[in-house]
Amino acid sequence: MKFFVDTAELSDIKELASFGLLDGVTTNPSLIAKSGRDFKSTIAEICAVVPGPVSAEVAATDYETMMREAEVLRKIAKNVTIKVPLTLDGLKACKALSGDGTMVNVTLCFSANQALLAAKAGATFVSPFIGRLDDIGLDGMELIREIRTIYDNYPDFNTDILAASIRTVNHVKDAALIGADVVTVPPAILKALVKHPLTDAGLATFVADWKKTGQSIV
Ligand code: G3P
Repeated sequence: MKFFVDTAELSDIKELASFGLLDGVTTNPSLIAKSGRDFKSTIAEICAVVPGPVSAEVAATDYETMMREAEVLRKIAKNVTIKVPLTLDGLKACKALSGDGTMVNVTLCFSANQALLAAKAGATFVSPFIGRLDDIGLDGMELIREIRTIYDNYPDFNTDILAASIRTVNHVKDAALIGADVVTVPPAILKALVKHPLTDAGLATFVADWKKTGQSIV
């Protein structure tokens, strides 16, 4: 399973990349707005830190403008992945861009049929939003399960399931159990994955006992 971080905050990205566990980055217009930074230079800086796919989302909703924006964004770096919304225009842009060898992430996926269309359009990634489905009383993880089954039924599909809108550490575990290819996780949740009270307690005991030996390894 690949781990992406879902943020536009460069300091978080640099810190997480330093642990060697980061395979890519996803951004969206809301995350860029939250960062308060210039979109194109932020994407360039992220691409310089993380060699894996870095999703940069188009702002337009019509095909022609999406394609013009994609042209600008994909020139920023080789690892830019163009993120398009799951609309007919977005799918048309996905088909054109992926046919041209550009990585495409089709975002705002909320149904299995939408994911089917994204795969038909040649998407590199489809982003089902787990948390936002949970927010309205539906089961986001059930959508991941359905998409996994459908994609596995058709081995000629080459689209990775990128589980997005992750809100809890259990979302990460459940997406992994189902077999999502990628999970994009906010920095705080990514760091929380390592936490277990028994690890902390066990380590405190080891440190205290080691002190009692009076020895040093280096
Ligand atoms: O990458 C987009 C997705 O992760 C959004 O998450 O928390 O705004 O629903 P959220």
